[in-house]
Amino acid sequence: MMGTYTARSLLCLLTLLLLCAYSAAPSASAAPIGVPNLQQCELASDTSVTGTPTTLQFNCCLPITQNVISFSFNKYKTQKRVRQAAHTVREDYIATYTRAYELMKALPDDDPRSFYTQANIHCAFCNGAYRQAGNSSVPLQVHFSWLFLSWHRWYLYWHERILQSLLGDPSFSLVFWNWDDQRDGGNVMPAMFARNGTALYDEKRNPANMPPAIVKLRPGTTGNNSVIINQNLNDMYQNVVTASSAELFHGGAYRTGTDLSNSTVILAPLGGSIENGVHNGVHFWTGNPALPLIQDMGTFTTASRDPIFYAHHSNVDRLWDKWKYGLPGGQRSDHTDADFFNAEFYFYDETATLVKVNVRDSLDNSKLGISYPSVAADELWVDYSPVASTNGSAVAAALAAGVPSVGASPQNGTIALGARLAAIVKAPAASSSSSSKAEVLTIQGLQVTRDSFVSLNAFVNLPFANVSTATSSAEYVGTFNIVPSASKYRKLTANVKFEIGDNLQRVGIQNEPEVVITLTVSGTQPVTIQGLLIEFE
Ligand code: C2O
Repeated sequence: MMGTYTARSLLCLLTLLLLCAYSAAPSASAAPIGVPNLQQCELASDTSVTGTPTTLQFNCCLPITQNVISFSFNKYKTQKRVRQAAHTVREDYIATYTRAYELMKALPDDDPRSFYTQANIHCAFCNGAYRQAGNSSVPLQVHFSWLFLSWHRWYLYWHERILQSLLGDPSFSLVFWNWDDQRDGGNVMPAMFARNGTALYDEKRNPANMPPAIVKLRPGTTGNNSVIINQNLNDMYQNVVTASSAELFHGGAYRTGTDLSNSTVILAPLGGSIENGVHNGVHFWTGNPALPLIQDMGTFTTASRDPIFYAHHSNVDRLWDKWKYGLPGGQRSDHTDADFFNAEFYFYDETATLVKVNVRDSLDNSKLGISYPSVAADELWVDYSPVASTNGSAVAAALAAGVPSVGASPQNGTIALGARLAAIVKAPAASSSSSSKAEVLTIQGLQVTRDSFVSLNAFVNLPFANVSTATSSAEYVGTFNIVPSASKYRKLTANVKFEIGDNLQRVGIQNEPEVVITLTVSGTQPVTIQGLLIEFE
Protein backbone atom coordinates (compact mmCIF):
# COMPACT_ATOMS: atom_id res chain seq x y z
CA MET A 1 0.00 0.00 0.00
CA MET A 2 2.71 2.40 1.03
CA GLY A 3 4.72 1.41 -2.04
CA THR A 4 1.84 2.26 -4.41
CA TYR A 5 1.33 5.60 -2.70
CA THR A 6 5.00 6.58 -3.09
CA ALA A 7 5.07 5.49 -6.69
CA ARG A 8 1.96 7.52 -7.38
CA SER A 9 3.29 10.69 -5.79
CA LEU A 10 6.54 10.23 -7.66
CA LEU A 11 4.57 9.97 -10.88
CA CYS A 12 2.63 13.11 -9.94
CA LEU A 13 5.84 14.97 -9.20
CA LEU A 14 7.34 13.81 -12.48
CA THR A 15 4.28 14.96 -14.43
CA LEU A 16 4.44 18.32 -12.71
CA LEU A 17 8.12 18.67 -13.51
CA LEU A 18 7.50 17.79 -17.13
CA LEU A 19 4.67 20.31 -17.32
CA CYS A 20 6.91 22.97 -15.85
CA ALA A 21 9.74 22.16 -18.21
CA TYR A 22 7.28 22.23 -21.10
CA SER A 23 5.89 25.67 -20.31
CA ALA A 24 9.33 27.11 -19.55
CA ALA A 25 10.89 26.10 -22.84
CA PRO A 26 10.22 28.94 -25.30
CA SER A 27 10.54 26.65 -28.32
CA ALA A 28 7.79 24.33 -27.15
CA SER A 29 5.01 26.89 -27.55
CA ALA A 30 3.12 26.98 -30.83
CA ALA A 31 3.01 30.67 -31.58
CA PRO A 32 3.79 31.36 -35.22
CA ILE A 33 3.53 34.96 -36.37
CA GLY A 34 0.09 35.58 -37.86
CA VAL A 35 -1.17 38.29 -40.19
CA PRO A 36 -1.86 41.59 -38.42
CA ASN A 37 -5.11 43.50 -38.25
CA LEU A 38 -4.63 46.10 -41.00
CA GLN A 39 -7.37 48.29 -39.51
CA GLN A 40 -5.15 49.02 -36.55
CA CYS A 41 -2.29 51.00 -38.02
CA GLU A 42 -0.04 53.39 -36.22
CA LEU A 43 1.42 56.38 -38.03
CA ALA A 44 5.15 55.98 -38.04
CA SER A 45 5.94 59.67 -38.26
CA ASP A 46 8.78 60.74 -36.04
CA THR A 47 11.52 63.28 -35.59
CA SER A 48 15.09 62.50 -36.44
CA VAL A 49 17.39 62.74 -33.47
CA THR A 50 20.71 63.33 -35.18
CA GLY A 51 21.83 66.03 -37.58
CA THR A 52 19.38 68.82 -38.36
CA PRO A 53 16.11 67.94 -36.60
CA THR A 54 13.71 66.91 -39.35
CA THR A 55 10.26 65.54 -38.97
CA LEU A 56 9.99 62.54 -41.17
CA GLN A 57 6.44 61.73 -42.16
CA PHE A 58 6.25 58.01 -42.43
CA ASN A 59 2.64 57.07 -42.86
CA CYS A 60 3.13 53.53 -44.01
CA CYS A 61 -0.41 52.37 -43.36
CA LEU A 62 -1.50 50.05 -46.14
CA PRO A 63 -4.69 50.36 -48.20
CA ILE A 64 -7.50 48.18 -46.90
CA THR A 65 -9.02 45.96 -49.56
CA GLN A 66 -12.26 44.01 -49.46
CA ASN A 67 -11.03 40.58 -50.44
CA VAL A 68 -8.41 38.49 -48.72
CA ILE A 69 -7.42 35.18 -50.23
CA SER A 70 -4.92 32.55 -49.23
CA PHE A 71 -2.03 31.76 -51.52
CA SER A 72 -1.91 28.44 -53.32
CA PHE A 73 0.40 27.24 -56.07
CA ASN A 74 -2.68 26.40 -58.15
CA LYS A 75 -4.15 29.87 -57.97
CA TYR A 76 -0.85 31.54 -58.74
CA LYS A 77 0.71 29.71 -61.65
CA THR A 78 3.89 31.30 -62.89
CA GLN A 79 6.01 31.11 -65.96
CA LYS A 80 9.52 29.87 -65.20
CA ARG A 81 11.99 32.71 -65.36
CA VAL A 82 15.65 33.33 -64.68
CA ARG A 83 16.66 36.48 -62.88
CA GLN A 84 19.80 37.84 -64.55
CA ALA A 85 22.65 39.85 -63.05
CA ALA A 86 21.97 43.57 -63.48
CA HIS A 87 25.38 44.30 -64.97
CA THR A 88 24.90 41.68 -67.71
CA VAL A 89 21.51 42.62 -69.19
CA ARG A 90 21.24 44.31 -72.58
CA GLU A 91 19.83 47.71 -73.52
CA ASP A 92 16.45 46.32 -74.64
CA TYR A 93 16.01 44.65 -71.27
CA ILE A 94 16.94 47.85 -69.45
CA ALA A 95 14.35 49.69 -71.53
CA THR A 96 11.65 47.18 -70.55
CA TYR A 97 12.72 47.32 -66.91
CA THR A 98 12.58 51.12 -66.93
CA ARG A 99 9.15 51.04 -68.56
CA ALA A 100 7.89 48.65 -65.87
CA TYR A 101 8.87 51.06 -63.10
CA GLU A 102 7.46 54.04 -65.03
CA LEU A 103 4.11 52.24 -65.13
CA MET A 104 4.28 51.33 -61.45
CA LYS A 105 5.24 54.88 -60.46
CA ALA A 106 2.36 56.28 -62.53
CA LEU A 107 -0.30 54.45 -60.49
CA PRO A 108 -2.10 56.54 -57.83
CA ASP A 109 -0.59 56.29 -54.35
CA ASP A 110 -3.58 54.51 -52.84
CA ASP A 111 -3.41 51.72 -55.44
CA PRO A 112 -1.87 48.69 -53.69
CA ARG A 113 0.17 48.06 -56.84
CA SER A 114 1.70 51.55 -56.95
CA PHE A 115 5.38 52.09 -56.31
CA TYR A 116 4.35 54.27 -53.36
CA THR A 117 2.43 51.45 -51.70
CA GLN A 118 5.05 48.87 -52.63
CA ALA A 119 7.63 50.93 -50.73
CA ASN A 120 5.24 51.38 -47.81
CA ILE A 121 4.83 47.63 -47.43
CA HIS A 122 8.46 47.47 -46.37
CA CYS A 123 8.11 50.49 -44.10
CA ALA A 124 4.97 49.07 -42.48
CA PHE A 125 6.56 45.80 -41.44
CA CYS A 126 9.86 47.23 -40.28
CA ASN A 127 8.76 50.31 -38.43
CA GLY A 128 6.04 49.35 -36.04
CA ALA A 129 2.94 50.27 -38.06
CA TYR A 130 1.19 47.03 -37.06
CA ARG A 131 0.88 44.93 -33.95
CA GLN A 132 1.47 41.19 -33.75
CA ALA A 133 -1.69 39.14 -34.18
CA GLY A 134 -2.40 37.60 -30.80
CA ASN A 135 -0.21 40.04 -28.87
CA SER A 136 -1.22 43.61 -29.49
CA SER A 137 1.36 45.00 -27.09
CA VAL A 138 4.21 44.00 -29.39
CA PRO A 139 4.95 45.59 -32.81
CA LEU A 140 5.40 43.31 -35.80
CA GLN A 141 8.90 43.27 -37.30
CA VAL A 142 10.17 41.22 -40.23
CA HIS A 143 13.89 41.95 -39.76
CA PHE A 144 16.36 40.68 -37.14
CA SER A 145 15.11 37.06 -37.19
CA TRP A 146 14.24 33.92 -39.17
CA LEU A 147 11.41 35.84 -40.91
CA PHE A 148 13.89 37.93 -42.86
CA LEU A 149 14.72 35.73 -45.86
CA SER A 150 11.23 34.37 -46.42
CA TRP A 151 9.42 37.71 -46.04
CA HIS A 152 11.73 39.39 -48.54
CA ARG A 153 11.42 36.49 -51.02
CA TRP A 154 7.65 36.91 -50.95
CA TYR A 155 7.96 40.67 -51.19
CA LEU A 156 9.96 40.35 -54.44
CA TYR A 157 7.62 37.66 -55.75
CA TRP A 158 4.54 39.91 -55.57
CA HIS A 159 6.43 43.00 -56.69
CA GLU A 160 7.61 41.11 -59.75
CA ARG A 161 4.10 39.79 -60.53
CA ILE A 162 2.77 43.35 -60.47
CA LEU A 163 5.52 44.52 -62.82
CA GLN A 164 4.74 41.58 -65.13
CA SER A 165 1.07 42.45 -65.24
CA LEU A 166 1.72 46.15 -65.85
CA LEU A 167 3.91 45.19 -68.81
CA GLY A 168 1.58 42.42 -69.93
CA ASP A 169 4.62 40.16 -69.99
CA PRO A 170 4.57 37.12 -67.65
CA SER A 171 8.17 36.31 -68.56
CA PHE A 172 9.50 39.58 -67.11
CA SER A 173 11.76 39.15 -64.13
CA LEU A 174 13.73 41.27 -61.71
CA VAL A 175 17.51 41.48 -62.01
CA PHE A 176 19.94 40.84 -59.18
CA TRP A 177 22.69 43.20 -58.10
CA ASN A 178 25.69 40.92 -58.00
CA TRP A 179 27.63 42.98 -55.40
CA ASP A 180 29.45 39.91 -54.11
CA ASP A 181 31.14 39.42 -57.51
CA GLN A 182 34.69 40.72 -57.04
CA ARG A 183 35.96 39.86 -60.52
CA ASP A 184 33.47 40.14 -63.35
CA GLY A 185 31.95 43.59 -62.91
CA GLY A 186 29.17 43.05 -60.34
CA ASN A 187 30.62 44.99 -57.42
CA VAL A 188 29.68 48.50 -58.51
CA MET A 189 26.28 50.19 -58.66
CA PRO A 190 24.76 48.65 -61.81
CA ALA A 191 24.74 51.18 -64.66
CA MET A 192 21.02 50.62 -65.31
CA PHE A 193 20.20 52.13 -61.90
CA ALA A 194 22.71 54.97 -62.18
CA ARG A 195 21.22 56.98 -65.05
CA ASN A 196 20.00 60.25 -63.62
CA GLY A 197 16.39 61.06 -64.42
CA THR A 198 15.14 57.57 -65.26
CA ALA A 199 12.53 55.61 -63.29
CA LEU A 200 15.32 53.35 -61.99
CA TYR A 201 17.26 56.25 -60.49
CA ASP A 202 16.96 57.61 -56.97
CA GLU A 203 18.40 60.96 -55.92
CA LYS A 204 18.89 59.86 -52.34
CA ARG A 205 22.06 57.86 -52.67
CA ASN A 206 25.65 58.39 -51.62
CA PRO A 207 27.08 60.66 -54.36
CA ALA A 208 30.56 59.24 -53.67
CA ASN A 209 29.42 55.73 -54.55
CA MET A 210 28.29 56.20 -58.13
CA PRO A 211 30.16 54.02 -60.67
CA PRO A 212 33.01 53.19 -60.77
CA ALA A 213 33.23 53.14 -56.93
CA ILE A 214 33.59 49.58 -55.65
CA VAL A 215 30.93 48.35 -53.23
CA LYS A 216 32.14 47.98 -49.65
CA LEU A 217 30.22 45.09 -48.15
CA ARG A 218 31.19 46.25 -44.68
CA PRO A 219 30.84 49.91 -43.63
CA GLY A 220 34.21 51.17 -42.51
CA THR A 221 36.15 49.13 -45.05
CA THR A 222 39.11 51.22 -46.16
CA GLY A 223 42.12 50.86 -48.43
CA ASN A 224 42.72 50.59 -52.14
CA ASN A 225 40.57 48.45 -54.42
CA SER A 226 42.50 45.23 -53.92
CA VAL A 227 42.33 45.62 -50.14
CA ILE A 228 38.57 46.29 -50.36
CA ILE A 229 38.12 43.23 -52.57
CA ASN A 230 39.83 40.92 -50.08
CA GLN A 231 37.75 42.29 -47.23
CA ASN A 232 34.60 41.84 -49.35
CA LEU A 233 35.56 38.23 -50.07
CA ASN A 234 36.15 37.51 -46.40
CA ASP A 235 32.80 39.06 -45.48
CA MET A 236 31.09 36.78 -48.00
CA TYR A 237 33.06 33.79 -46.74
CA GLN A 238 32.16 34.50 -43.10
CA ASN A 239 28.52 35.41 -43.81
CA VAL A 240 27.64 32.58 -46.18
CA VAL A 241 30.21 29.76 -46.14
CA THR A 242 31.03 29.31 -42.46
CA ALA A 243 27.51 30.24 -41.27
CA SER A 244 26.51 26.62 -41.68
CA SER A 245 23.36 26.31 -39.55
CA ALA A 246 19.91 27.75 -40.18
CA GLU A 247 20.19 29.79 -37.00
CA LEU A 248 23.51 31.32 -38.03
CA PHE A 249 22.46 32.12 -41.60
CA HIS A 250 18.70 32.87 -41.40
CA GLY A 251 18.66 34.15 -37.84
CA GLY A 252 16.79 32.84 -34.82
CA ALA A 253 13.23 32.29 -33.67
CA TYR A 254 10.67 35.07 -33.86
CA ARG A 255 7.25 34.07 -32.54
CA THR A 256 4.19 35.86 -31.27
CA GLY A 257 5.49 37.78 -28.27
CA THR A 258 9.09 38.19 -29.45
CA ASP A 259 9.88 41.84 -28.86
CA LEU A 260 12.79 43.56 -30.51
CA SER A 261 12.76 46.58 -28.25
CA ASN A 262 12.21 44.88 -24.97
CA SER A 263 13.72 41.44 -24.49
CA THR A 264 15.67 39.31 -22.11
CA VAL A 265 18.86 37.53 -23.13
CA ILE A 266 16.91 34.26 -23.42
CA LEU A 267 14.16 35.66 -25.65
CA ALA A 268 16.02 38.31 -27.62
CA PRO A 269 15.72 38.01 -31.39
CA LEU A 270 18.72 36.98 -33.42
CA GLY A 271 19.42 38.23 -36.93
CA GLY A 272 21.25 35.99 -39.38
CA SER A 273 24.76 36.53 -40.75
CA ILE A 274 23.54 37.43 -44.22
CA GLU A 275 21.15 40.05 -42.87
CA ASN A 276 23.43 41.58 -40.23
CA GLY A 277 26.47 41.46 -42.46
CA VAL A 278 26.63 42.15 -46.20
CA HIS A 279 22.91 42.84 -46.62
CA ASN A 280 22.92 45.72 -44.14
CA GLY A 281 26.35 46.75 -45.44
CA VAL A 282 24.97 47.34 -48.94
CA HIS A 283 22.01 49.30 -47.53
CA PHE A 284 24.48 51.59 -45.78
CA TRP A 285 26.79 51.87 -48.81
CA THR A 286 23.97 52.92 -51.13
CA GLY A 287 22.16 55.48 -48.94
CA ASN A 288 23.24 59.09 -48.54
CA PRO A 289 25.30 59.58 -45.35
CA ALA A 290 24.55 63.32 -45.43
CA LEU A 291 20.89 62.58 -44.62
CA PRO A 292 19.93 61.86 -41.00
CA LEU A 293 18.98 58.22 -41.50
CA ILE A 294 21.14 57.60 -44.58
CA GLN A 295 18.07 57.66 -46.82
CA ASP A 296 16.90 56.10 -48.93
CA MET A 297 18.61 52.72 -48.75
CA GLY A 298 20.26 53.25 -45.37
CA THR A 299 17.10 52.94 -43.28
CA PHE A 300 14.31 50.38 -43.64
CA THR A 301 11.57 53.01 -43.63
CA THR A 302 12.64 54.47 -46.97
CA ALA A 303 14.88 51.72 -48.41
CA SER A 304 12.41 50.38 -50.95
CA ARG A 305 11.67 53.84 -52.34
CA ASP A 306 14.88 53.16 -54.29
CA PRO A 307 14.27 50.75 -57.21
CA ILE A 308 17.74 49.30 -56.60
CA PHE A 309 16.35 47.81 -53.38
CA TYR A 310 14.57 45.04 -55.30
CA ALA A 311 17.75 44.14 -57.19
CA HIS A 312 19.71 44.20 -53.95
CA HIS A 313 17.27 41.77 -52.38
CA SER A 314 17.23 39.52 -55.45
CA ASN A 315 20.90 38.95 -54.74
CA VAL A 316 20.19 38.19 -51.08
CA ASP A 317 17.56 35.75 -52.36
CA ARG A 318 20.05 34.18 -54.77
CA LEU A 319 22.56 33.80 -51.94
CA TRP A 320 19.95 31.95 -49.86
CA ASP A 321 19.73 29.39 -52.68
CA LYS A 322 23.50 29.33 -52.99
CA TRP A 323 23.86 28.73 -49.23
CA LYS A 324 21.25 25.99 -49.33
CA TYR A 325 22.20 24.08 -52.47
CA GLY A 326 25.48 25.37 -53.83
CA LEU A 327 28.23 25.03 -51.25
CA PRO A 328 30.72 22.24 -50.62
CA GLY A 329 29.52 19.77 -47.98
CA GLY A 330 26.05 19.15 -49.40
CA GLN A 331 22.65 20.69 -49.01
CA ARG A 332 22.06 22.85 -45.94
CA SER A 333 18.83 22.89 -44.01
CA ASP A 334 16.47 25.81 -43.41
CA HIS A 335 14.77 25.92 -40.02
CA THR A 336 12.40 23.00 -39.42
CA ASP A 337 10.41 24.50 -36.53
CA ALA A 338 6.63 24.57 -37.07
CA ASP A 339 6.51 28.21 -35.96
CA PHE A 340 8.91 29.01 -38.81
CA PHE A 341 6.91 27.10 -41.44
CA ASN A 342 3.56 28.49 -40.29
CA ALA A 343 4.41 32.18 -39.96
CA GLU A 344 2.09 34.21 -42.21
CA PHE A 345 2.35 37.50 -44.10
CA TYR A 346 0.13 39.75 -46.21
CA PHE A 347 0.97 41.00 -49.68
CA TYR A 348 -1.03 42.42 -52.61
CA ASP A 349 -1.21 40.55 -55.86
CA GLU A 350 -1.36 42.03 -59.37
CA THR A 351 -5.14 42.52 -59.11
CA ALA A 352 -4.68 44.49 -55.85
CA THR A 353 -6.14 41.62 -53.85
CA LEU A 354 -4.69 41.00 -50.42
CA VAL A 355 -3.06 37.57 -50.26
CA LYS A 356 -2.08 35.62 -47.18
CA VAL A 357 1.11 33.59 -47.59
CA ASN A 358 3.20 31.47 -45.27
CA VAL A 359 6.90 30.78 -44.85
CA ARG A 360 6.58 27.12 -45.86
CA ASP A 361 5.44 27.96 -49.39
CA SER A 362 8.44 30.22 -49.93
CA LEU A 363 11.17 27.70 -49.19
CA ASP A 364 11.54 26.30 -52.70
CA ASN A 365 12.19 29.00 -55.31
CA SER A 366 11.58 26.57 -58.18
CA LYS A 367 7.94 26.21 -57.09
CA LEU A 368 7.61 29.98 -57.40
CA GLY A 369 9.09 29.79 -60.91
CA ILE A 370 12.25 31.63 -59.92
CA SER A 371 15.83 30.65 -60.64
CA TYR A 372 19.21 32.30 -60.94
CA PRO A 373 22.04 31.54 -63.35
CA SER A 374 25.19 30.08 -61.86
CA VAL A 375 27.70 32.86 -61.24
CA ALA A 376 31.32 31.92 -61.94
CA ALA A 377 32.74 34.59 -59.61
CA ASP A 378 31.01 32.97 -56.61
CA GLU A 379 34.04 30.70 -56.49
CA LEU A 380 36.23 33.58 -55.30
CA TRP A 381 34.42 33.84 -51.96
CA VAL A 382 33.39 30.19 -51.68
CA ASP A 383 37.08 29.26 -51.91
CA TYR A 384 38.39 32.29 -50.05
CA SER A 385 40.94 31.03 -47.63
CA PRO A 386 41.68 33.74 -45.06
CA VAL A 387 45.22 33.56 -43.74
CA ALA A 388 46.00 34.09 -40.05
CA SER A 389 47.93 37.25 -39.18
CA THR A 390 48.88 35.93 -35.72
CA ASN A 391 50.89 33.00 -34.52
CA GLY A 392 49.85 31.13 -31.37
CA SER A 393 47.40 32.09 -28.64
CA ALA A 394 47.24 35.76 -27.64
CA VAL A 395 45.81 35.00 -24.19
CA ALA A 396 49.12 35.54 -22.35
CA ALA A 397 49.71 38.88 -24.08
CA ALA A 398 46.13 39.89 -23.33
CA LEU A 399 46.50 38.99 -19.65
CA ALA A 400 49.70 40.99 -19.44
CA ALA A 401 47.86 43.97 -20.92
CA GLY A 402 45.10 43.68 -18.33
CA VAL A 403 42.38 42.34 -20.64
CA PRO A 404 39.50 41.11 -18.43
CA SER A 405 37.73 37.76 -18.54
CA VAL A 406 34.11 37.96 -19.61
CA GLY A 407 31.60 35.15 -19.16
CA ALA A 408 28.03 34.35 -20.06
CA SER A 409 25.09 36.41 -18.81
CA PRO A 410 24.46 37.30 -15.97
CA GLN A 411 28.03 36.84 -14.63
CA ASN A 412 29.35 40.26 -15.59
CA GLY A 413 26.17 42.36 -15.54
CA THR A 414 25.85 45.01 -18.22
CA ILE A 415 29.06 45.76 -20.10
CA ALA A 416 29.54 48.98 -22.07
CA LEU A 417 31.54 48.41 -25.26
CA GLY A 418 32.82 51.92 -25.92
CA ALA A 419 34.84 51.94 -29.14
CA ARG A 420 36.26 48.52 -28.39
CA LEU A 421 36.18 45.70 -25.87
CA ALA A 422 38.79 42.97 -25.61
CA ALA A 423 37.91 40.00 -23.40
CA ILE A 424 39.21 36.57 -22.52
CA VAL A 425 36.42 34.04 -23.01
CA LYS A 426 36.30 30.35 -22.07
CA ALA A 427 36.17 27.98 -25.03
CA PRO A 428 34.65 24.50 -24.63
CA ALA A 429 36.77 21.46 -25.47
CA ALA A 430 35.81 19.70 -28.67
CA SER A 431 34.30 16.24 -28.20
CA SER A 432 33.15 13.49 -30.53
CA SER A 433 29.59 14.83 -30.30
CA SER A 434 30.68 18.36 -31.20
CA SER A 435 32.30 17.40 -34.50
CA SER A 436 29.07 17.86 -36.46
CA LYS A 437 28.29 21.12 -34.71
CA ALA A 438 29.36 24.69 -35.27
CA GLU A 439 31.48 26.44 -32.67
CA VAL A 440 29.60 29.65 -32.03
CA LEU A 441 30.37 32.91 -30.26
CA THR A 442 27.21 34.54 -28.87
CA ILE A 443 27.21 38.20 -27.97
CA GLN A 444 24.36 38.12 -25.50
CA GLY A 445 21.75 40.79 -25.04
CA LEU A 446 23.30 43.53 -27.15
CA GLN A 447 21.43 46.80 -26.68
CA VAL A 448 21.59 49.91 -28.79
CA THR A 449 19.26 52.73 -29.74
CA ARG A 450 19.25 52.94 -33.51
CA ASP A 451 19.50 56.72 -33.76
CA SER A 452 22.33 56.51 -36.26
CA PHE A 453 24.37 53.86 -38.00
CA VAL A 454 26.42 51.52 -35.80
CA SER A 455 28.75 48.80 -36.99
CA LEU A 456 30.32 46.18 -34.75
CA ASN A 457 33.21 43.93 -35.84
CA ALA A 458 34.34 40.81 -34.03
CA PHE A 459 37.82 39.25 -34.01
CA VAL A 460 39.52 36.30 -32.36
CA ASN A 461 43.10 36.40 -31.05
CA LEU A 462 43.63 40.11 -31.70
CA PRO A 463 43.58 41.81 -28.26
CA PHE A 464 44.63 45.12 -29.77
CA ALA A 465 42.24 45.20 -32.73
CA ASN A 466 40.51 48.53 -33.25
CA VAL A 467 37.97 50.03 -35.66
CA SER A 468 40.51 50.26 -38.45
CA THR A 469 41.88 46.71 -38.21
CA ALA A 470 41.66 45.08 -41.65
CA THR A 471 39.04 42.35 -41.93
CA SER A 472 40.63 40.14 -44.58
CA SER A 473 42.51 37.81 -42.24
CA ALA A 474 41.37 34.65 -40.46
CA GLU A 475 41.02 36.49 -37.15
CA TYR A 476 37.97 38.39 -38.41
CA VAL A 477 34.77 36.54 -37.58
CA GLY A 478 32.09 38.92 -38.80
CA THR A 479 30.14 42.10 -38.45
CA PHE A 480 26.80 43.35 -37.20
CA ASN A 481 25.66 46.44 -39.07
CA ILE A 482 22.83 48.17 -37.27
CA VAL A 483 20.59 50.15 -39.59
CA PRO A 484 19.26 53.38 -38.04
CA SER A 485 15.57 54.00 -37.43
CA ALA A 486 13.43 57.01 -36.58
CA SER A 487 10.61 54.92 -35.19
CA LYS A 488 9.72 55.07 -31.54
CA TYR A 489 10.61 51.37 -31.56
CA ARG A 490 14.22 52.11 -32.38
CA LYS A 491 15.60 50.52 -29.23
CA LEU A 492 17.11 47.18 -30.17
CA THR A 493 17.87 44.18 -27.99
CA ALA A 494 19.43 41.28 -29.84
CA ASN A 495 21.71 38.33 -29.52
CA VAL A 496 24.43 38.14 -32.15
CA LYS A 497 26.06 34.88 -33.22
CA PHE A 498 29.20 34.18 -35.19
CA GLU A 499 30.66 30.83 -36.22
CA ILE A 500 34.26 30.93 -34.97
CA GLY A 501 35.41 27.29 -35.25
CA ASP A 502 36.81 27.86 -38.74
CA ASN A 503 38.66 30.96 -37.51
CA LEU A 504 40.18 29.16 -34.51
CA GLN A 505 41.32 26.29 -36.75
CA ARG A 506 42.98 28.63 -39.22
CA VAL A 507 44.74 30.52 -36.43
CA GLY A 508 45.73 27.17 -34.86
CA ILE A 509 44.16 27.84 -31.44
CA GLN A 510 41.19 25.45 -31.68
CA ASN A 511 42.33 23.45 -28.64
CA GLU A 512 42.95 26.38 -26.31
CA PRO A 513 40.70 26.56 -23.22
CA GLU A 514 40.43 30.34 -23.57
CA VAL A 515 40.22 32.70 -26.52
CA VAL A 516 40.67 36.45 -26.84
CA ILE A 517 37.58 38.05 -28.37
CA THR A 518 37.70 41.68 -29.45
CA LEU A 519 34.66 43.71 -30.46
CA THR A 520 35.14 47.06 -32.17
CA VAL A 521 32.37 49.59 -32.60
CA SER A 522 32.07 52.40 -35.12
CA GLY A 523 29.29 54.90 -34.75
CA THR A 524 28.27 57.22 -31.97
CA GLN A 525 25.48 55.25 -30.31
CA PRO A 526 26.46 53.57 -27.03
CA VAL A 527 26.30 49.77 -27.20
CA THR A 528 26.02 47.48 -24.19
CA ILE A 529 26.06 43.70 -23.94
CA GLN A 530 25.15 41.19 -21.23
CA GLY A 531 27.82 38.58 -21.79
CA LEU A 532 29.98 36.51 -24.15
CA LEU A 533 29.57 32.78 -24.61
CA ILE A 534 31.33 30.21 -26.79
CA GLU A 535 29.51 26.91 -27.36
CA PHE A 536 29.12 24.08 -29.85
CA GLU A 537 25.58 24.18 -31.20
CU1 C2O B 1 13.86 44.68 -45.38
CU2 C2O B 1 17.11 44.95 -47.08
O1 C2O B 1 15.70 45.08 -45.83
